[in-house]
Amino acid sequence: MRDIVLEVNGARHALTVDRSATLLQVLRHDLHLNGPKYGCGLGQCGACTVHVDGMAARACVIPAAQVQGRRVTTLEGLGDRARPHPVQSAFIQAQAAQCGYCLNGMIMTTAALLAHEPRPSAQAVRDALAGNLCRCGTHVEILAAVERAVA
Ligand code: FES
Repeated sequence: MRDIVLEVNGARHALTVDRSATLLQVLRHDLHLNGPKYGCGLGQCGACTVHVDGMAARACVIPAAQVQGRRVTTLEGLGDRARPHPVQSAFIQAQAAQCGYCLNGMIMTTAALLAHEPRPSAQAVRDALAGNLCRCGTHVEILAAVERAVA
């Protein structure tokens, strides 16, 4: 076990975690932030995406101790029911979800993209989301939601 301090969604958390704990494990099990999902656990599906210092990152393959001193944002920190982030609103308005399991990653990846590139080309959006998998095949609706967020 080891002691770490994480800054998540603007709050500091002093935690004692397993030395091998990933950021995803700490977020979900210790901080009860269930926005980021466990999909593949291998950094390949995008379900666990969070922001680290504003960049999209795969929480399932990042050791929790490695993000000490950095800003971690989860879906819960992006917006809430009262004040949803524009990307969250666009995904709701576009009814982009089928099962919804991939949406954390789709929304977090899109929000990071738009923060750095507010008016991306259609190809840039596809490139950014290429590593986020949707088993239901709702990619057309997801791309429509991103278009809505950009407009
Ligand atoms: Fe992290 Fe799949 S669960 S990329």
